[in-house]
Amino acid sequence: MFNSNTLARFQNIETPFYYYDLKLLKETLQACADASAKYNFHVHYAMKANFNPRVLDLIQSYGFGADCVSGGEVKAAIAHGFDKGKVVFAGVGKSDKEINEALDREIFCFNIESVQELQIINDLAKAKNKTASVAIRINPNVDAHTHHFITTGLEENKFGVNIWELPAVAEALAKCPHLKFLGIHFHIGSQITDLGVYKNLCIRVNELQLWFEERGLPIKVLNLGGGLGVDYQQPDANPICDFESYFKVFNDFLNVKPNQEVHFELGRALVAQSAALVSRVLYVKNGIKKNFLILDAGMTELIRPMLYQAYHQIENLSRGEEAGSERQGAGSRKLEPGIGSQEAGNTDSELQTPDSRLNSPGSELKYDVVGPICESTDCFRKDVDLPESFRGDLIVVRTAGAYGEVMASGYNLRERVQSVYSE
Ligand code: LLP
Repeated sequence: MFNSNTLARFQNIETPFYYYDLKLLKETLQACADASAKYNFHVHYAMKANFNPRVLDLIQSYGFGADCVSGGEVKAAIAHGFDKGKVVFAGVGKSDKEINEALDREIFCFNIESVQELQIINDLAKAKNKTASVAIRINPNVDAHTHHFITTGLEENKFGVNIWELPAVAEALAKCPHLKFLGIHFHIGSQITDLGVYKNLCIRVNELQLWFEERGLPIKVLNLGGGLGVDYQQPDANPICDFESYFKVFNDFLNVKPNQEVHFELGRALVAQSAALVSRVLYVKNGIKKNFLILDAGMTELIRPMLYQAYHQIENLSRGEEAGSERQGAGSRKLEPGIGSQEAGNTDSELQTPDSRLNSPGSELKYDVVGPICESTDCFRKDVDLPESFRGDLIVVRTAGAYGEVMASGYNLRERVQSVYSE
């Protein structure tokens, strides 16, 4: 992702910023498109993972559909060229305005999350003399074995219709002439790394298909949602993501009839590895018990570590090869000695001088890597092994392409940071 040219370029860019490697993104999209095409599976990109305009333009150019969870996402998807016939709209709290706008845009499908919503969409479609295509989002009570904050398919979660509510769904569908039943939808959680979870999901989906068919509700679309995880420990992993094995599980375990379509809604797996958050060390505090690296980026730019205790690899680009747990990744890069020195010298006279950097002892230390926000939780991680670091060093937080820029906030009246791209 980084080479000496990127580093030289970074010197002239105000930090913090999101850096997008569009070549890597294209490779990821191609790998997913190839792996899904093998089984004729349809992929919708989960817009919530990243709605950066350049990213959206690129993703739609691969022919993926869009999975949206708000009227704003539906609008953005269509504005960025996603085919409205491939737009799906999920979400437990769709407002009347959002439903009406999606009806006007004639999207492919509403993924319905409650019996009440089903009736409301029928009424709103009736008022427009339209028919809305719908799939029922079912909460299958399958454990995703992921962080409990990003688990969505257990009975305790607010998402989807519980299995015991299905008779009421069938009854309501029979009374809703302005709805066209397309099929069933599932999304059990995010950052799922155990593919056995998906096998369990397939088994449950096979049972549920039978239930609908026995009640005269044939299923055309089976939408399995998203959730495929990435390796945060190895941002340079090759392959970037094992789409082949993921889709194979569904091919092996899901009962699919010849007239049925299988759909997915991948977000993280498509975009996570293609971006990094780039920041600079503002201050170094060396203490007796703790060393702190205080960055110019914080929870306002990337909140995942603070919200989900999420691990992101942290690297000091200015110091080259780094120490310990931060350097487990396959294909880790080696920076030429002196690159960091040149960089700092170009920017700010108060920063470390090139000579002092070159002459630095190069020892490894443990740092709590923190941001500037007035919250104690504004910490990317404690006890990070890094080479001895100095004011002005470029620090990157890897695997930040999914749920990074999109979850940024203006807390502390922080300004939105810019995005920088490489082709
Ligand atoms: N479909 C539905 C209905 C969803 O709710 C989601 C994500 C996806 C698809 C895409 O899931 P993915 O393939 O990206 O795992 N902010 C959290 C993740 C929240 C995921 C919400 N739903 C994080 O930073 O880990």
